[in-house]
Order: sequence, then C-alpha cells, then structure tokens
Amino acid sequence: MSDTVQVERQQKMDSREDTDFFGGTAQGVLSTAMDRPDGPQKVTGTATYADEDHPPGTVFGWLVRATVTRGFVTGLNTDELRAMPGVLLVLRDDRLLRNPAQGQAGRAPVQFKGEVAYKGQPIALVVAESFEQARHAGLAAKADYLDRGGKAVICPEDAEFETPKAKQSSMGDLDAAMTAAAHRLDGEWTTPSMSHVAMEPHSAVAWWEDGKLTVRASQQMLKHNVKELADSLGISPAMVRILAPFVGGGFGSKLGISHESVAAAIAARKLGRPVAVPLHRRQVCETTTRRSESRQRVRLCCDRDGVLTGVGHEVWVSNLPGETFSEPVTQSTPFTYRGENREIAHHVGRLNITCAGSMRAPGEAIGVPVTEAAIDELAEMAGIDPIEFRLRNIPEEDPSKEIPYSSNRLADCLRRGAELFGWSERKPAGTRREGEWLIGMGMATAVRVNMLQESEARVVLLPDGSARVETDMTDIGTGSYSILTQIAAEALGLPADRVTTVLGDSDLPPAAGSGGSFGAASSGSSVTLAAQAVREELAKRMGADPGELTLKDGHAIAGNTRRSLPDLLGGEAIEGKGTIKPGSNARSVRQASWGAQFAEVAVSAVTGEVQVRRMAAVFAAGRVLNPKTARSQCIGGMVFGIGSALTEESHYDRRDGSFVNRDLAEYKIPANLDVPKIEIEFLEDRDAWANPMQAKGIGEVAVCGTAGAILNAIANATGVRFRHLPVTLDKVIAALPRP
Ligand code: MOS
Repeated sequence: MSDTVQVERQQKMDSREDTDFFGGTAQGVLSTAMDRPDGPQKVTGTATYADEDHPPGTVFGWLVRATVTRGFVTGLNTDELRAMPGVLLVLRDDRLLRNPAQGQAGRAPVQFKGEVAYKGQPIALVVAESFEQARHAGLAAKADYLDRGGKAVICPEDAEFETPKAKQSSMGDLDAAMTAAAHRLDGEWTTPSMSHVAMEPHSAVAWWEDGKLTVRASQQMLKHNVKELADSLGISPAMVRILAPFVGGGFGSKLGISHESVAAAIAARKLGRPVAVPLHRRQVCETTTRRSESRQRVRLCCDRDGVLTGVGHEVWVSNLPGETFSEPVTQSTPFTYRGENREIAHHVGRLNITCAGSMRAPGEAIGVPVTEAAIDELAEMAGIDPIEFRLRNIPEEDPSKEIPYSSNRLADCLRRGAELFGWSERKPAGTRREGEWLIGMGMATAVRVNMLQESEARVVLLPDGSARVETDMTDIGTGSYSILTQIAAEALGLPADRVTTVLGDSDLPPAAGSGGSFGAASSGSSVTLAAQAVREELAKRMGADPGELTLKDGHAIAGNTRRSLPDLLGGEAIEGKGTIKPGSNARSVRQASWGAQFAEVAVSAVTGEVQVRRMAAVFAAGRVLNPKTARSQCIGGMVFGIGSALTEESHYDRRDGSFVNRDLAEYKIPANLDVPKIEIEFLEDRDAWANPMQAKGIGEVAVCGTAGAILNAIANATGVRFRHLPVTLDKVIAALPRP
C-alpha cells in the first residue's frame, strides 16, 4: 500500500461560472466521440444486469398479485402452496404491498395495511429452489379478500380531482385577452397512460452477511434507493448496499425502489439464502409505475402580427389515492413563449390503477407536444409560417418570473433546423400527395427544464500515473462510463485508456443518480471538482499556480518544467473528493435545454397509416461532453417520441382496471421499420450558470419536441388536426374522406 494524499473541492452554484475550465485544458479527449469503455462488455453480454449474476445458492421468488381492484387481503392458500415442489417460503408481509417509491429524494413509499388499491398489486411472495417452481406455485396462489366498500375508480371521467396550489399560477386577464385578440384558440387535447417498458425488466437479488444487506437491483438513483429500501425494511441505511453496475434502461421507472427489492430482502433474511426476484414483463407493466394520462385545455391568443398576448394551460392527470407525485405537464409552459396574460392550472384525479410516476421528461414529454400543436394551429390561423411565428414569440427573459435565461439559443435552433431539414420545401396543408400517400412536414420547439442535483465523486491519481473515478452514479444506457472517463482524463491530462471508472455501488461516494436529465451534469461536475482538487495538489508540487499548470499525456508542465506524473507523485497517490451542490442559480436564472425538431410524414389515405419518413433536430444544451453518446440519447428520445405520437397507449379494462396490453406484443413501441433517418446537430453553447462544465441535460429534451413535430406534420399532410394521442390508424381513417 502506498501513501495517499487526500484533497477536496466543493462548489455550490450560487453564481455565474466565469472561467471555462474545460476551455483551457489540453488533453483534447472531452467532447470527442469516444467509444464507450463498456461497449465490448455490452456487446459480449458480460455487462450483467441485476438478475444475470447470482451468488451461489440463490433461490427464486415470484410476486403474487391482487386479483381484485379494491379490498383487504384476509387469507392465502399458504399450506397448499408450501406443499408444492421446490417451494421454500410463502411470504405475506404488509411491507410487500407498499407502492414503489417515486425516487423523490428518498421519500418513503405509501404504505398499505393489508389494503389493495389496484389490480395487480403485489400481496405475497412465493420462493422456491428454481424460478420455474416459484412461478408455478405463485400462479396457483389464491387469496381471500374482504370488500369493505368503496368503489374502484378506473376512468379519469369518474375521478375526484384535487388542485395543488403550488402548480397553479396566473398573470393578467386571460379571458379579456382572448376576447380582444385578433386570433384565438381554445381546445382540448388528451394523451394516454403509458408504460416505461425498459429493455431490462425490474429485478433484485438480495443477500445478508453479518446483518448487512446487499441487493443487486435495477435502479437509477442509488443514494436515494438505499434510504428508501432501509425505510421500507425498518433498518438503518448504513446496513444497506445496492449494486447496479449496469442498468438496461429505466426511463424513470427505476428512480425509486419497487416491490421486488423489498420482497427479495425480506425473503433472503427469513431463509438465510440469497433470493432473486425477477419481474415478468407483465408484472413490470402492472406493478411498477406508469405515465399518467392527461387531459389538457390550451388557450392561446395573439395580435395581428402573431405576437402572443395570452397563454392558458390547464391539465388533469391522475395517480393512486395518497400518492404525492403528479405529472408536471405545464412545467415549461410559463417560460417558453411571450404572452402577458396567463392561466396555468393543474388537477390530480385519484384512480385505482397502477401508481403513476416519472417517465422520461415527466411534464414536458406530454405537455410540450400539446402546446406546440396549439401554437402551430394558431400560427396557421394567423397566416404566419410556424417557424416565423415562434421566432416572434421568444421572450427576452422568463416572462413568468422576470428572470434572465441562463442561455437560450432557441432562435438559432429554429433557424438552423429549418436549413438542415429543408423547411422551405414545405407545402400548404393537404396539397402534397404521392399516390395514396399524403405528405406533410411539421416542426416543434423542444424545451426541457435543466436541473442540478448534489453529487459526490472520488478521483484517485495512482502512483503509476493512471486514474480511477469512483462514484455511485449509474449508467442506464446513457453513457455515464464514457463521459465520466472523458471528464477525468481531460482534467488530469491523461489518455482515456489510463482512466478507469467504477460506478453503480452505493458504497462509493453518493452521486445524483440518473434522472431528470441531471445525471451527466451533476455527476460530471463532481468528477470535475475532484480532478481539480488533484490538479491543485499537482500544481503545488510543480511550484506553480493551478492556472499555470498544463496536464497532457501523463505529464505536468509549468513554465520551463515538464515532469511525468509518476515522477511527480513519487510513489504516492492523490485522492481528490469533489462535491457539487445546487445553489441559488436554480432560482435566479431560468435554465432549460432547447431545440427545434422536424418531421416529414406520409399518411395513407387508404389505411390511415402514418409513416415518419425522416426527422431532424438541432439542440442547444450547453457543452456536449461526447457527441456520440449525446447523439444516441437524442435518437433514443426521438424514437420514444414516435411511440408517444403514433402507437403507445396503456389500456385498462374499464370494469376492474386490468392492464390489457401489458406486454411488448400488445403495447406497441416503434420497431426498426417505424424509425426513419434521423439527423441531429448540436449548436455550440455554454451555460455558465448551470455547472462548472457549462453543460446541460440532453437525456430528455429530444423527447419533448418529437410528438409535436409529428402531429404538426400530420396536420400539414392531411389538413386535419388530431388532438387525441396516439394518432392511430382508426382515428386517421375516421377523419379522412373515403378514398
Ligand atoms: Mo427520469 S423520468 O427522471 O428517469
């Protein structure tokens, strides 16, 4: 063991970052399209997900789920199940019935005392020697229920709505503005409930050693998940370790812990053996979380020149009784466009269907497509090109709070996007036809709030001049391994292959986790700060100011001196700890990622089928850390958006809330043939208010404009405005003239 020198650097974002640190580093590895360091593991199947690596002696659990919509569990055919082949344990425990936590900074899950609040809710766990035996017994489970009255509410039309004050705001007099306006629009849109269906189904493998619990789980935010799991079990967070080295997507459904990790932990303790609880796809759909459906009323009005004078956005969403989350659909409406008269309103209905939670770009993903469709419609009424209309309505500052934007290149995105896509070729609505195909072009603004979360990392510069990055950050397919490696390599002047990044272990310094598009910026900033602390120590050893130090290819250079890092380290390691904290910048300026998105569609006049022929997008989201992983994020977001525009919709049986299309055969997400050529550009952008890297979120912004661009392209192709998503064939064919 060599000696280690410990150094530290913290930063709270309370002011503008005047120096662009990465503008002055020399390695040149950051912002390059570096391949993923974990790529070979991914393609050879050695990057194991939670349920792909079991400790010796692991046994398997199957969640038994409620067959009624409301009631109380009073009994289970435990003896019968216990006698079935291989069965080791039939576990009934109220802690199993709890709803998945929402990952809202460790907030405790809602507890049910024997109460069932929706059909499919877990009520017991059957554990057996093999997964097949557990499933066999689990499917033979029969529970008794007591109906204590209380009607199950399945449809939003039947729900009682609550109106949280925090999500309402108004300015001026919208009614008067609407009356006085040259052009006005008052319409209602709906978006459906949706399922996350990440590639890796939720699963957990739990074992206990010396009173300490370890769980391999598919999770996005380990530091919160440790607290949530400890809270669910009634033990100290210090006794819980979560491992999630690779996660096969989450999209929000893995922000908080859910039933499988609680069940696996309790059963493993009871049996004294490791227990794996992998969820079936159907269980994922039925028992994890969903995106709420929404009803949205949008009112817009403008003067003769197309300048907005009023903006109204009122939404109705839902969740289970008692849940605090509700999809913030209007989140970006107050600050995207001009309009001095405003009404923003939010209502939550209580439904007895699966818990609603965050799903990729919660809020904007369903709010922005609707407001962008409305803007497009108003532009058409005003006889103004939709891009020109938007350009006329970009405010100088956030009009709702009268605070400046941290950076806002929306206008440049719109102009460059128009060029890239060939917007000048667009024809008037309903005038372009190729045989049975009606062709149209549409566009939309993309906007998503930018956030920063507290995040901590350790960067160790080892005596041989290589470095190790350690943090409990997750890589949910997004490229965390890539960018954190690049950030440390750039800051320390090392080739990327001299840096090893270790993630996904809650025993490592607590990161922000992956969520809300804040993962890269938050965890990346903590790595930046840790590496800067190491640099300061190196500068000291060189007898130079940190600002005079150049680190490149494993050498430190200051003035006339150039020394190799091993020489400078003299057998010691330098361990830097970095902590980034959000500060007043979250309130003193308006931070968002911006973009302009374009789609060309062909709509069959015979079958009503909508094909997306091509898409393009231009984003401005601060410094791009890796153009390859950034582009992949945006492509993923746009594929996600095709699904929400055209096919994705969770159906619930109106009688009892059964999830009808609970697998990938019936829940239609875009497949290869549904996805066209996608062109993506990033504008040069720096956001000095956001974080020390001057980068912003890109994981979600591309979702936000896609469905709007597709809706507007369909309107341009057909001359019909479809207001109820997804725009499926039946809706199109009903609206088009008989061929
Ligand atoms: Mo995201 S919906 O915060 O994973």
